[in-house]
Amino acid sequence: MKTYLVTGGAGFIGSNFILYLFEKYGNNIRVINADCLTYAGNLENLKDVESNPNYIFFKVDIRDRQAVNNIFQEYDIDRVIHFAAESHVDRSIKNPEAFVSTNVLGTLNLINAAKMAWETQDGYRPGKKYVQISTDEVYGSLEDEHGYFHETTPLDPHSPYSASKASADLLVKSYVDTFGFPANTTRCSNNYGPYQFPEKLIPLMINNTLSGKRLPVYGTGKNVRDWLYVKDHAKAIDLVAEKAAAGEVYNIGGHNEKRNIEIVTLIIDTILDLLPEQDARRKGISHDLITYVEDRKGHDYRYAISPDKIKAELGWEPETMFADGLRMTIKWYLDNPEWMEHVTRGDYQNYYKQMYGM
Ligand code: NAD
Ligand code: TYD
Repeated sequence: MKTYLVTGGAGFIGSNFILYLFEKYGNNIRVINADCLTYAGNLENLKDVESNPNYIFFKVDIRDRQAVNNIFQEYDIDRVIHFAAESHVDRSIKNPEAFVSTNVLGTLNLINAAKMAWETQDGYRPGKKYVQISTDEVYGSLEDEHGYFHETTPLDPHSPYSASKASADLLVKSYVDTFGFPANTTRCSNNYGPYQFPEKLIPLMINNTLSGKRLPVYGTGKNVRDWLYVKDHAKAIDLVAEKAAAGEVYNIGGHNEKRNIEIVTLIIDTILDLLPEQDARRKGISHDLITYVEDRKGHDYRYAISPDKIKAELGWEPETMFADGLRMTIKWYLDNPEWMEHVTRGDYQNYYKQMYGM
């Protein structure tokens, strides 16, 4: 039975990944979720597996070297899937320190612990794999409508968030190059789906629309992101963990480029389509909620990623059309109002006031 160490498993992508693992492998795997539960970590995401004896949660901060080493001492880990990170660009502009300590030093602790546990006199114990979950943002920004990021595109991060992720990627690369460490790095585009914290574009706009609150669109709203349904991403990570040769880097993209304003408009229209005629919230919902606000500092214009390599080598393709994925996502938020209520209590209100002043 394979044992996975999933870091950041209480976050958005990590929890979707754990749910996918159990859906795919049933109880033929064991999953250890190591997460320190920042504002972005929520164990409610995992309530469907929490009573499964093959699922184990450790409240661990990956910056705590000893705590990370202890997990490797206690368990024979076969797969490390490293999601834990500070993940929001706007927060990194206000407070970069947490991004360096978690994303860079936390990653260093993890690769050191895995290397120590897995290395033998002449290499590594067979079948071990570390996957670094990175982002297309490490490639910087495409300044017009043409071209894609490829795995060979030079790293050129602009925000403190993407700089910290690029630094972590380079540390992992250095361990592959120096020590032959059995790692892969995946760089994916913007994910969306259930359990995403409402600081990111799609859940924030869904939440605000349902509450009849203004929809803060940065700058002109013309910036482009390439959107990937989170379950499609989970499938790609699993393929990389199982099938990819050590040392390889893969871009994972949705071939789903959209301007921000298109997304916000589609969210309003889809919510109006899904809400029953008698639902009182409909009255407060219209395109008039769209409010252009001051642009993000250093706002990257366009991200678009070529998934040609993962398609050619591992046979992965995004399966979910954006309109379908967005509809499923909105339905999930409509069906789970208590999830949103819980995560928007307390700290979220303070963050929102500070960030948007409205
Ligand atoms: P998230 O913010 O929803 O979750 C991050 C998780 O990491 C949380 O559960 C948090 O508690 C945990 N965490 C943070 N600091 C920690 C620490 N020091 N020790 C232990 N746990 C800690 O993030 P997400 O959107 O799920 O992103 C997961 C990964 O995917 C990140 O590495 C991110 O850079 C990458 N990524 C995300 C996207 C996206 O669109 N969301 C796109 C590309 C790449
Ligand atoms: P975000 O979800 O923060 O992801 P990232 O910056 O990592 O791509 O933002 C996606 C896009 O939406 C980005 O161009 C910024 C924009 N945006 C807004 O216009 N308003 C908002 O309130 C937020 C959170 C984002």
